[in-house]
Amino acid sequence: MDIRVFDTPEETAAALARRVARALADKPSLVLALPTGRTPVATYAELRRLHAAGEADFARATTFNLDEFAGIPPSHPGSFRTFMERHLFQGINLTLSRIQFLDGAAPDLDAECERYEAAIEAAGGIDLLLAGIGANGHIGFNEPADALAARTHRVRLADSTRRDNAPLFGGDVSAVPGEALSMGMRTILEAGAIVLIATGARKARCVERAVRGPVSTHVPASFLQLHRHVELYLDRAAATAL
Ligand code: F6R
Repeated sequence: MDIRVFDTPEETAAALARRVARALADKPSLVLALPTGRTPVATYAELRRLHAAGEADFARATTFNLDEFAGIPPSHPGSFRTFMERHLFQGINLTLSRIQFLDGAAPDLDAECERYEAAIEAAGGIDLLLAGIGANGHIGFNEPADALAARTHRVRLADSTRRDNAPLFGGDVSAVPGEALSMGMRTILEAGAIVLIATGARKARCVERAVRGPVSTHVPASFLQLHRHVELYLDRAAATAL
């Protein structure tokens, strides 16, 4: 794993945004996979800034988000689709038809997961996958468990994950859906390159377990150790246990 440590969360975000802009310059038809959450917000702001400065062109790129809540439509204020519109999509020049998203309100959620896998394949696979990490070691919504699903699937969210996402639902944990759809570990590990971003002391322990611990379904992010091309973008606080 290629571990890069920056002094501050802002520097981490700026470096990651430059990394994405470089990848777009090298391959304008880049297929990106993207996370939501607090961590990438600064990176997305920086990508919007780079785009406005003419330094990041998404016109031919395709994006797939890692996950989405089940049981709410894309237009719901708490959905990840809404989050992405607000933090990234509205400020860049992605082509609408190349924004791919899981639909948590699809009538048949298993069929929706299969549709997503087929769409990833039809796009030629994911070139560059950005991911955050949950304090419990989850990646996407692959929660710690005795077994992990390989492909895009329905998942029951851990209580800690629902608490972490309560701010998207007005702070009301009971309003956070209990289920989500998520790319599976194999879907994630088939990406050409994976960049994990983590900032803040709260992530130090899970980063250490993901990077140095045994590969375990109880720390889903530890599966990244099996991939040939993983980069970690960390601030000093998140790197303290390494
Ligand atoms: C969300 C996702 C999650 C988050 C993780 C970290 O799309 O895939 O795995 O990356 O929960 O979230 P933050 O950045 O809020 O700590």
